[in-house]
Amino acid sequence: MAAGQRDISVSEFFAKNRHLLGFDNPRKAMLTAIKEAVDNALDACEEGGILPHIYVRVLQINESRFKLTIRDNGPGIVRAQIENIFGKLLYGSKFHRLKMSRGQQGIGISAAGMYGLMTTGKPVVIISKIGKRKAAHEVVLKMDTSKNRPMVISDTEHPEDDTLFEDGHGTQVTIELEGKYQKGRQSIDEYLEQTAIANPHAKITYVTPTNETLEFPRAIEELPEEPKEIKPHPKGIELGTLIQMIERTEQRQLGGFLTKDFCRVGATKAREITKGAGMTGQTWIKTVGHAEAEKLYDSIQRTRIIAPNTDCLVPIGSKALLAGLLKEVKAEFFAASTRPPNVYRGNPFQIEVAIGYGGGLGRDDNAKVLRFANRVPLLYSQSSCCSFKAVAETSWKNYGLTQPRNSIPSGPLVVMVHMVSVWVPFTSESKEAIADYDEIRKEMKLALQECGRKLGTYLRRRKRMARESERRSVFERYIGEISRCCNSIVGADIDKLYKALMKQAKRRTDEADSKLDDEGRVLDDNGRLGNDEDVIIVDDLQDIPEQEDTLFGKSAKKKKRKTTKKKTTRKRGKK
Ligand SMILES: Nc1ncnc2c1ncn2[C@@H]1O[C@H](COP(=O)(O)OP(=O)(O)OP(=O)(O)O)[C@@H](O)[C@H]1O
Ligand SMILES: [Mg+2]
Repeated sequence: MAAGQRDISVSEFFAKNRHLLGFDNPRKAMLTAIKEAVDNALDACEEGGILPHIYVRVLQINESRFKLTIRDNGPGIVRAQIENIFGKLLYGSKFHRLKMSRGQQGIGISAAGMYGLMTTGKPVVIISKIGKRKAAHEVVLKMDTSKNRPMVISDTEHPEDDTLFEDGHGTQVTIELEGKYQKGRQSIDEYLEQTAIANPHAKITYVTPTNETLEFPRAIEELPEEPKEIKPHPKGIELGTLIQMIERTEQRQLGGFLTKDFCRVGATKAREITKGAGMTGQTWIKTVGHAEAEKLYDSIQRTRIIAPNTDCLVPIGSKALLAGLLKEVKAEFFAASTRPPNVYRGNPFQIEVAIGYGGGLGRDDNAKVLRFANRVPLLYSQSSCCSFKAVAETSWKNYGLTQPRNSIPSGPLVVMVHMVSVWVPFTSESKEAIADYDEIRKEMKLALQECGRKLGTYLRRRKRMARESERRSVFERYIGEISRCCNSIVGADIDKLYKALMKQAKRRTDEADSKLDDEGRVLDDNGRLGNDEDVIIVDDLQDIPEQEDTLFGKSAKKKKRKTTKKKTTRKRGKK
């Protein structure tokens, strides 16, 4: 048995357990590969301060084999980094920092390449260019899974070649893999549509296996603010991590360690913490052993320290959320809510929710829950995701919807739940579902309730309007008759009487049109909804066909829709 003991490389482990990374079946594997590349592309563009234009091409080679090409206009990758990024698992720039980004583990793109290599034997081809007057590098590489090391097969330099990269910089990755293409739920198409909703600043061009080109245009021409990187919060770390940090710190004294390696600890707080542990700021780090670290840990728990700063979080924001949703979902009522930041395990996070109701959405189905984490759509493991649980635990009956027990509501409703955080607690390496932390679920429910209340107000008001306008039409039907009768009995002036009665009828049923203003159908609920920046109500609903089984019904022709708020009158993006 002793002779059988040997090291296992991380890539060997994940090659055997590829389902842990989201490569469990050909259909899902293809989606995961595209998702990893597109997420990286968006991350790179945003970090480089560039408005993203992502090109995705899925080329079918034979029945079960596909060639995926994903190109971005990001800052590109320096030649020396290319092989490690694409040919080595657990290598990346995002793992060791606390900064909001789509990627965090350093596995994504190399795992996609590894899956391609395992299923087709074909290497990954990367072309990257870092500037206008710089050469493009084309690197063909394989991963040596037994050693988790890249093997470069060829390396070609294309001096000043700008044919691929219009802006003079960017990265293109091509992976050949075994896959299966299918439209509908959990498809590449759905992933890209939802990516367009959560990233209204990105332009996405998608060439499908049937050689159709779909464009997802930009809804806003501004990049989101760059999120700041933060240091760990003392309250969020465990004893083991504290010991490791003490072992690895570059600081020589305890005071320096506490103030430089953590956020929210100034000189006074550091003094308070060290005093509580029976030490001082001048205590040498090398004298801090296990027992001292434990005292320090206890003292941290006893000390009041303010919550981490939240400028590290950049939510999509109600305005952009609504713009994204309006572009892709054919509903009549939209509402959004962004919660203030909160903290779980010392990590700042923030929740935002948007809903779309009615219009062309399917009336008979269950509501659709769109889940996002740091702007990335999550398409799998819905029922184990915290956001799905939060939707099911919210009492939608209070807002006029039907809801089976312990389930999500039914009816023409789309609910979008987005979590932003410096570290999203995924349930697995494949980053499919958010873990169920109480703090997170509570925030999600509060945001859902806020949107639900607005929807409830709208639905109640709509019902009342319909009732009143029915009443008015009954009055109107008889007013002419009544005027004529009064004229023949007492000789009253028909015209005068008709006008007076009409005025009365209008006054008595004024609710029917008190919500309709000169623009068409403004729902002005004494300012409660009409003036709400986070609500959009769409007119011309007769133009919206019922959506097909896909959420956003590509085939359905998009028409101009007038929204009821002057400032938010928008047109659907043309495709
Ligand atoms: N298109 C790209 N442009 C520029 N840099 C990139 C690009 N793709 C990947 N990178 C760099 O390569 C690193 C590794 O990417 P990879 O997808 O493997 O991991 P990650 O994005 O850090 O985390 P995750 O595993 O969660 O996706 C990234 O951290 C990033 O620095
Ligand atoms: Mg990644």
